[in-house]
Order: sequence, then structure tokens, then C-alpha cells
Amino acid sequence: MALFMSSTRTIPASTDVPRHIAIIMDGNGRWAKQRLLPRIAGHQRGVETVREMVKACRQIGVEYLTLFAFSSENWRRPADEVSFLMQLFLKMLEREVGKLNDNNVRLKIIGDLARFDEQLRQYITEAEQLTSANDGLTLTIAANYGGRWDIMQAVEKLWQAQPQTQGNLNDEALEPFLSMNYAPEPDLFIRTGGEQRISNFLLWQLAYTELYFTDTLWPAFDRSALDVAIQSYQKRERRFGRTSEQLTENK
Ligand code: IPE
Ligand code: IPE
Ligand code: MG
Repeated sequence: MALFMSSTRTIPASTDVPRHIAIIMDGNGRWAKQRLLPRIAGHQRGVETVREMVKACRQIGVEYLTLFAFSSENWRRPADEVSFLMQLFLKMLEREVGKLNDNNVRLKIIGDLARFDEQLRQYITEAEQLTSANDGLTLTIAANYGGRWDIMQAVEKLWQAQPQTQGNLNDEALEPFLSMNYAPEPDLFIRTGGEQRISNFLLWQLAYTELYFTDTLWPAFDRSALDVAIQSYQKRERRFGRTSEQLTENK
């Protein structure tokens, strides 16, 4: 639980390889539309990119990869697309978990799972249990996730566990109750598909994350595109509130 390191309380060590990459996988629908295919064909192809990113992150030595698969606002989409996405998620869990386990990947699902059907919730629990002891890459899938929901559920849990914190709320007490309490904050955020917004992803955890936006659509994003994003990250000066001079003096 204590793994969450707050960038606003302690300055994290900046490593050349980002320890944690968080991605908004956007642009599946447009990718399909460009090819005169139905939107769901884009989601299907997007799964290939997920596989490629998991492999690449293991090779590069990234410790945590977090992927936004379905937002708390994506229920607003047409019912048939929502149902396709749910089925795709279930199929992915069925098909891929054994392989992830063989590759020492620990799988985590974050989000408000209460809205999912019983079968899907069962698979999620089993997949997490099966891979829980793995110490290679930690792959987190954010499903029915919303950054605001995350903060609210953390406050509720904290107040239940420690009623004395009501009227005395502080971030250190809250952080163990956030969904990603097992991971350091993301070093690098990537959004594909051209939009420059957070869309209610990890609001709390992105406080000091380096943001990277690319026009490349998710199904077309590949290992070399990831390398470009990491190179961009490596050129950034992460100051965490300090001056540039302070950073060079400390070297
Ligand atoms: C991202 O691609 C996948 C999900 C949100 C599930 P989109 O489906 O948002 O693709 P665009 O943005 O319409 O191209
Ligand atoms: C964000 O993409 C959510 C996921 C990738 C799961 P959206 O396509 O839903 O975001 P908006 O609606 O363009 O902000
Ligand atoms: Mg989109």
C-alpha cells in the first residue's frame, strides 16, 4: 500500500526510463472510419496495439503501464458500441490472462466495477488473483473509470475507516484509498488521437506527470511511436516546483 509516492510531498527521482506510463487510447473510431469500416473494427485493431505496448514496456523496463479502456462517460455511447466494448473486454480477459501470467505481468483493473455484470466481475477477480504474485510489469486497465469517481470513493473509504479525518482531511491520509495506491504516480502520460484533454482520467495522479499528445490514432500507434514519446519525455526538465538553477546546482 505504501508504494504511492506523492509528488507534492516528496520529489520523486527522475529516471531515464519512465517507471510508469499512463495512456489514453483514443482514435479507434476514426481509424475505422478512414477505412470505411464500422467503429468496432477500430476497437478490435486497438487490441493489437495493446499487445504491442505490453511487450514493448516489458522490453524497455517500464514498471507500470496504465491504459484507459472505458471511461465513466463512455456509457453515453450507442448501446451496441457499449455492449461490443464489454464483450471485447471479457474476451481479452479470457484469452490473454494466461499469456500475461506466463510473462510475469501483474494485472490490475481499476474503476467502478459495480456497474459490470456478474460474469465480468468474476473474471476480473480471478485474473487479478492469478497474476497477483507476478513482479514484472504491472498492467492496469482502467474500466468504467473516472478521476472524479476515484477521488470521491477514496474520501468515502477514508471517512469510513478513520472518522476522525472528517474536518481534518489531508492528502497523505487519502492516498492509500485511491485506486492506484500500489503504484508511483505516472511519469509520462500519452494521449493518441489528436485531442489535447484528460477526459476525466487520473486527475489526482497526473499532478506532475509529463504530458505527451500525438495525432497518431491508437490502432496505428506502435513501438517506434512509443519510442518517440519516451524520447520527448527524456528531454523534459522535471522541476516539481523548483527552479532550473536548483536542478543544475544539485547535479
Ligand atoms: C477510444 O477510441 C476507445 C474508447 C473510448 C473505448 P474512440 O472510440 O474514442 O475513437 P474516436 O475518438 O471516436 O476516433
Ligand atoms: C477517452 O476517450 C476515454 C478512453 C480512451 C477510454 P474518449 O474518446 O471517450 O474521450 P472524449 O469524449 O473525446 O473526451
Ligand atoms: Mg475518442
